[in-house]
Amino acid sequence: MGYESVRFPENTLFLVTGGAGFIGSNLCEAILNKGCKVRCLDDLSTGKQENVDLFIDNPNYEFVKGDIKDLDTCMKACEGVDYVLNQAAWGSVPRSIEMPLFYCANNIQGTLNMLEAARQKGVKKFVYASSSSVYGDEPNLPKKEGREGNLLSPYAVSKRADEEWAKQYTRHYGLDTYGMRYFNVFGRRQDPNGAYAAVIPKFIKQLLNGEVPTINGDGKQSRDFTFVENVIEANLKACLAPHEAAGEAFNIAYGGREYLIDIYYGLTKALGVDIEPNFGPDRAGDIKHSNADISKARELLGYDPDWSFDRGIKAAIEWYKENL
Ligand SMILES: NC(=O)c1ccc[n+]([C@@H]2O[C@H](COP(=O)([O-])OP(=O)(O)OC[C@H]3O[C@@H](n4cnc5c(N)ncnc54)[C@H](O)[C@@H]3O)[C@@H](O)[C@H]2O)c1
Repeated sequence: MGYESVRFPENTLFLVTGGAGFIGSNLCEAILNKGCKVRCLDDLSTGKQENVDLFIDNPNYEFVKGDIKDLDTCMKACEGVDYVLNQAAWGSVPRSIEMPLFYCANNIQGTLNMLEAARQKGVKKFVYASSSSVYGDEPNLPKKEGREGNLLSPYAVSKRADEEWAKQYTRHYGLDTYGMRYFNVFGRRQDPNGAYAAVIPKFIKQLLNGEVPTINGDGKQSRDFTFVENVIEANLKACLAPHEAAGEAFNIAYGGREYLIDIYYGLTKALGVDIEPNFGPDRAGDIKHSNADISKARELLGYDPDWSFDRGIKAAIEWYKENL
């Protein structure tokens, strides 16, 4: 279980794009802990300098400030790289509805540049962040690869397009690509601030500050909230996945389902506060329920997540208590 037994030769060089963000910085840390080298490419548009400062003194860590919208930057960043873990993108469904052109340029053209650079530089494997949003309005649960519905936002379009481009790079240019369809990831270093923050860190921060959080809708929506350690496992195992599994996208989740309202009251209990939430309108582009069938990743990547929601949320709460 997990990724403890996953090993790479010492001199292995990983490129993590978006490495100054939440998931990317966790990937950088895990790679350094494995004794390998990591180059982080990030334009710091939503990422943080402090997530770079954490590792900058480690000789195995290199930071390149740059934008994946620029092909030349991507080419230089891929020099000598064994594995690319492409995380750079802008998240948030509502923001993508406000800024469709930017999401196309940043999330689609940016990833296409990275695919092209990885191909030209002879990278071994290209693992990239996709999203559960590619399931759109597909009503059946659990979500299963190959059974997708109509897309509900420009963000979802950008992730679906990335998957299609990656498939082309496997089909025509022999680049082994593996799409990670993350389901609502949470954990240390996820940004609690701003209008587009994810619910778990946002609620924890508000409750710790004695503020009243707002739940969009009735709180009876459910998600397969996935602790970041499981995401690290999936990325590292995808780097070692067989060629036969390339050109595919995989659900990366725990395979459970949590209701937002239950999470809310779980947090108030764990934090020892007695605050009733406000309820706001539903968000455009949101779906009511989502959870994942993870059998494809289990079978083809050897993914075997060992962080349940309950275990992960305890660790996340402890981290936020110490770091906010
Ligand atoms: N967090 C989740 O629950 C979740 C769910 C599904 C998919 N994803 C995907 O996972 C990836 C990482 O998400 P995250 O939650 O860590 O977000 P994040 O915002 O914390 O990290 C993204 C990073 O990418 C960087 N970036 C953005 N555009 C860039 C560009 N053009 N060039 C270079 N760097 C750029 C940002 O500065 C940031 O550091 C994204 O692709 C996101 O769409 C995340």
